[in-house]
Amino acid sequence: MSDNSKPHTSTNQMWGGRFANASDAVMLAINASIDFDKKMYAQDITASSVHAKMLVRQGIISTADCDAMIAGLAQIKAEIEAGKFEYSHTLEDIHMNVEARLTKIMGANAGRLHTARSRNDQVATDFRLWVRDMVDVLEAQIRTLQASFVTRALEHAKTIMPGFTHLQTAQPVTLGHHFLAYVEMLERDRTRLLDARARMNECPLGAAALAGTSFHIDRHFVAQELGFARPTANSLDSVSDRDFALEAMAAASICAVHLSRFAEEIVVWCSAPFKFISLSDKYSTGSSIMPQKRNPDAAELVRAKTGRIAGDFQSLLMVMKGLPLAYSKDMQEDKEATFDALETISLCLAAINGMVQDLTVNVPALKKAASGGYSTATELADWLVQNLNIPFREAHHITGRVVSMAEAENKQLHQLSLAQLQSVEPKITIEIFTALTVEAAVKRRVSYGGTAPQNVRKQAMAWQKKLAKLGAK
Ligand code: ARG
Repeated sequence: MSDNSKPHTSTNQMWGGRFANASDAVMLAINASIDFDKKMYAQDITASSVHAKMLVRQGIISTADCDAMIAGLAQIKAEIEAGKFEYSHTLEDIHMNVEARLTKIMGANAGRLHTARSRNDQVATDFRLWVRDMVDVLEAQIRTLQASFVTRALEHAKTIMPGFTHLQTAQPVTLGHHFLAYVEMLERDRTRLLDARARMNECPLGAAALAGTSFHIDRHFVAQELGFARPTANSLDSVSDRDFALEAMAAASICAVHLSRFAEEIVVWCSAPFKFISLSDKYSTGSSIMPQKRNPDAAELVRAKTGRIAGDFQSLLMVMKGLPLAYSKDMQEDKEATFDALETISLCLAAINGMVQDLTVNVPALKKAASGGYSTATELADWLVQNLNIPFREAHHITGRVVSMAEAENKQLHQLSLAQLQSVEPKITIEIFTALTVEAAVKRRVSYGGTAPQNVRKQAMAWQKKLAKLGAK
């Protein structure tokens, strides 16, 4: 398969007319993209078949040639999928590998396929199709993950946990509410991908090398056959735009950042001091030396792969920076980063989905943690405002004094006596104790978007409906 090390005695068969000598081995090594761009074989063959169909419709090639091309391309696809295709480095990339094989199959008339196109618009088209296909896969995966979070949110609509700010216990919230926060993030990720998809859905084929073509082609037909909304409008832009890959990677990077935040929570929540959740053997690994350990490796890897995905995005952003119009070979460096970023985010989505479904919640530990750290101090302040008509700033001050007293006595707020509370604020009544439990705290937070179990249930059910509708499309 690899012919890198062999001496090259013949000139390249695609442009041999102008070149007398073969490339240096290093030149081949730096120039050849076949090892990675063969991933786009299906897109290349589909786009070429449609191009052939257009050429015959426009009377540019004969029906016999078109039929031979389409049959030959189908044969090549089958050969590739059966692992029988011989890739050549001398032929540089997937486009020339396919064309060279087509020439072997049908003879010199295969050379007519490249009429009114260039590898510049060809690669732009194939790559766009690949990215678009992958965006569709990712969009569906995000929906699946959202559905998993929603299921767990309904199950834990009233499970109380500590809500954190600065990773300090802040106020009690429900676990269902926490899960639904990720559903919201993922919805932005999903629609960001759909926005990118709509913008990328224009067909560059027919822009040729950079200037368009003198052949009477039908770019609208090609665009439609390939599922694009329309052809691209400017031939220079068509061959030199890689925004579509950048946007998909930007969306993937943001999504990865979201996943990494949940991954971090899994890592923290699984740790012995927290013990909020546990993962089954399916998602844990052991230690070769410390038998007590169960490590959340998959979550750690999602956290780490986020760096890799964002790095891929940066990599292409820097490749594109300062490139003059139109095509430059620099742009061949678009593929490895994009393939890696989109395939990696796909793996991360699958891993997080697996863990969301797998994780077991330690309800008592969550409740216990929620009750610590004076998490209901805000309740006390709010109660003073709502029942004694004390201005909030002053109520905050009174509450601060109550918390210091509790701290000095090593007690929770509800463990203080009424007399103790009244020593700080004489107007406090026995009623205060109903407000100081974590259950009361979450139940009262019914403001729109708040953590009350009834809100969580309502929102989770609305998501279930919405996702079911999207799934049916
Ligand atoms: N393999 C090339 C790429 O990925 C195809 C385009 C080559 N065009 C050219 N003018 N050399 O960008």
